[in-house]
Amino acid sequence: MTDRVVEINERPIPKVPALRGKTVCTMFFEDSTRTKLSFEAAAKRLSADTMSMSVSSSSVKKGESVRDTIETIQAMGVDAFVVRHGSSGVPWQIANWVDDHVSILNGGDGWHSHPTQGLLDSYTLCQARGGEAGGNPSLDGIHVGLIGDIKHSRVARSDVEAFTALGAKVTLIGPPTLMPPSVAGWSMDGSTVDISHDLDSLLPELDVVALLRIPRARMGQALIPSIGEYVHTFGLNRNRLSLIRPDAIITHPGPMNRGVEVSVDVLDGHPGTVVLQQVTNGVAVRMAVLFLLLGSGVVS
Ligand code: CP
Repeated sequence: MTDRVVEINERPIPKVPALRGKTVCTMFFEDSTRTKLSFEAAAKRLSADTMSMSVSSSSVKKGESVRDTIETIQAMGVDAFVVRHGSSGVPWQIANWVDDHVSILNGGDGWHSHPTQGLLDSYTLCQARGGEAGGNPSLDGIHVGLIGDIKHSRVARSDVEAFTALGAKVTLIGPPTLMPPSVAGWSMDGSTVDISHDLDSLLPELDVVALLRIPRARMGQALIPSIGEYVHTFGLNRNRLSLIRPDAIITHPGPMNRGVEVSVDVLDGHPGTVVLQQVTNGVAVRMAVLFLLLGSGVVS
């Protein structure tokens, strides 16, 4: 499905009438650039009407509850809500409140899950490996290292689910204090997910170096001795870049903390970097997801 949508996005006028008459509302209780804008672009390219609730200028600020807010907007006529919230489980809870015909898409909830990020990252890796358009997607036989704050990362959880489902071997890499107590149940198929605290010894064998964001908030929580210590042990700098295989792929979901998980300019122009391709694919993947949930016919 995403291959088909990628083709639409390459047209001079990247727009189809597939969701004409449908309304998609984005509700972001947490900040976002990529997820919010790409869902909105995706809905518009499928000709859906869009509504966007900005929490900072809404009646949430006057104390209105999430449930009252959702029910109010639903009463205006909405077919899908895209929800981001700082608390895990809020999109699931909202799905229990809305009418059956209304779809809820998780735009990232707490530490729990960021499903469309997992899908767009998988799509990008399959594409970078030269997967044939229309063929069965597979990450069979590749080794992905996810590096950073694994414990608090919804991206890590969704990436592990998606990558292992497609056959990849995944190793989680970071300091012990940023690892979850257990990774049991993280993979869809029960495959083992390895943990390592030694980035330098693993870098030469990774097919994919998947960097994660180190939120600035983490730095004040005594989980790492100092930001300098993290940069020294896990930051991607020129020395570490020289350890990476020439054909390895480097990803980052954004937003990037330059000078923390990656040295300021080390990835700019690097041939293995697919960071902006991840963003481009984010629109296509979200178009595919919206079409599969709300579309009734041919995408055309
Ligand atoms: N990757 C990601 O979720 O980025 P945003 O926070 O900008 O949406």
